[in-house]
Amino acid sequence: DKYTSEIKAFTAAKAEELEAFRIKYLGTKGIIKDLFDQFKTVGPEEKRTFGKVLNQFKQLAEEKYNEFKESLDSGVKSHDSSQDLTLPGDGFEVGSRHPLSLVRNEIIDIFKRLGFVVAEGPEIEDDWHNFSALNFPEEHPARDMQDTFFVRKGEGNDDIALRTHTSSVQVRMMESGKPPFRAIMPGRVYRNEAISARAHCFFHQVEGLYVDENVSFSDLKQTLYHFVQELYGEGTKVRFRPSYFPFTEPSAEMDISCTICKGSGCNMCKYSGWVEILGCGMVDPNVLENCGIDSKKYTGFAFGMGIERITNLKYVIRDLRLFSENDVRFLKQFQTEI
Ligand code: PHE
Repeated sequence: DKYTSEIKAFTAAKAEELEAFRIKYLGTKGIIKDLFDQFKTVGPEEKRTFGKVLNQFKQLAEEKYNEFKESLDSGVKSHDSSQDLTLPGDGFEVGSRHPLSLVRNEIIDIFKRLGFVVAEGPEIEDDWHNFSALNFPEEHPARDMQDTFFVRKGEGNDDIALRTHTSSVQVRMMESGKPPFRAIMPGRVYRNEAISARAHCFFHQVEGLYVDENVSFSDLKQTLYHFVQELYGEGTKVRFRPSYFPFTEPSAEMDISCTICKGSGCNMCKYSGWVEILGCGMVDPNVLENCGIDSKKYTGFAFGMGIERITNLKYVIRDLRLFSENDVRFLKQFQTEI
């Protein structure tokens, strides 16, 4: 027992220590040899138990020896004199976050601080969630083959398509729960457009929804105003222009004072001093009813923005295609911002 605990506690930092260990226990004049000699002298009835203990002990000592021999050997290799430790190391590439991820996370953080949760939904959607529940009339041009990638063209309303906006997630959320809702929906969306510097067949959105009793247009304005101050800095101006979306009434588009030229006129804002960043409005009562929500009791606002556009205005990126080409010369520039 004394030897067993001694062996268990043994560590060797140097080859000499290990060699001393070997001689003491495993050597030809070592303890184990000695014990085996004693083994010959014990009576036959004790032989069994003594033999068993002895074998275990021997095994333990050998294992310990091999363990340290291995670790010392591998240690020796790295100090091998055939290697030149003064050679410069091989650099390795550190990845970086994609600019769209950086901006998406920033948007999420701002809305989280206002109490919004993050909701997600499928990219392959049915007609109901992408269009019908959102009050799109049958003949609305956005349903047209021009804009929508259909996965399956069905009879009437049973089309399956790639979602054209994340408003579909708003529908899913409202259908499956009870107000109040306060959520943002980040995600990828698809539109059948020719690829150019200004358009792509897919892009990313963050939409938002707030439904409760007494939600008003001033809540919408204040929320989005606050968002812009957080994202683009204090003093960024906003302006709302009337617009149209089937699922909101009234609807608006929001412009901000150009973040690049600070309003003095550049080709990013086409010398107007203003750039559009999102669409918004009060949720149309029809949409609330379509999702099983009492539109007499509840009101809500919704908004939606393209992350690419928000990113362009933050980093002065003029060609949308850069986001999906994965050219490391482009991506590397965001390395410090992980
Ligand atoms: N769904 C709209 C779009 O994709 C954006 C939007 C969302 C507008 C919510 C108003 C309210 O363009």
